[in-house]
Amino acid sequence: MTPRGQHRHRPARPSWATYRRSIGDRSGLFAALARDWAPARALYPGSYLDASPSTAIPSVTYLDTDRRAARYFADHELVATELEGRTRPGAGADIQFLHADYTTPLDLPRGGFDLLISLYAGPAWDHCRPYLTRGGLFLANTSHGDASLAALDPRLELVHAVLHDEDEYRLDSTALESHLIPKSPEAADPDLIRSTGRGVTYTRTAFAYVFRLT
Ligand SMILES: C[S@@+](CC[C@H](N)C(=O)[O-])C[C@H]1O[C@@H](n2cnc3c(N)ncnc32)[C@H](O)[C@@H]1O
Repeated sequence: MTPRGQHRHRPARPSWATYRRSIGDRSGLFAALARDWAPARALYPGSYLDASPSTAIPSVTYLDTDRRAARYFADHELVATELEGRTRPGAGADIQFLHADYTTPLDLPRGGFDLLISLYAGPAWDHCRPYLTRGGLFLANTSHGDASLAALDPRLELVHAVLHDEDEYRLDSTALESHLIPKSPEAADPDLIRSTGRGVTYTRTAFAYVFRLT
């Protein structure tokens, strides 16, 4: 029981708004991608509570094994409220959530997405590549090795390095050959990356990379 006059502090329910306090707002990143490439359908395995793609992309399928993510995305009213006033025209029209493990076969159309997002979520490229259409984009960072595996995949070409400062994101397309140069060449080994679950350290750093499936 709470003594009279005192309010029991109830922690805010996990949502994109609470999660933004730790990861920041990535809306600027997806706005830049939308401006340059206009992706229509994105797949975001290991999204947790990061709803920022829906501020810029019309249809996004979020996917996670986490119960808190499932509960958040099931609350359509809360998601809509949190996106209100933050979306680009046409964005956020279709928001799906799959409470699933992306390493298992998913009930999703092969080639059904023109953007695949992998941020801090493990080896999504190995498992979710079939869902990306030809010419589609793969946004990944190096944290669990996904961008490093992508850099070694001949089906992908690097089209941007994503640079950021706080909540400001920029897609850099200049001197792309200067990105993804390993500090130690022997680290750029797919088997090693997969077995350690760690990305390669590059001579230049970036928040993430955008590749295109050729
Ligand atoms: C560190 S969080 C990153 C969340 C978000 N992508 C971000 O950038 O802030 C990793 C998320 O990936 C999810 N995840 C890891 N492996 C997964 C798998 N095999 N299938 C589905 N979700 C997975 C975890 O449940 C967790 O929510």
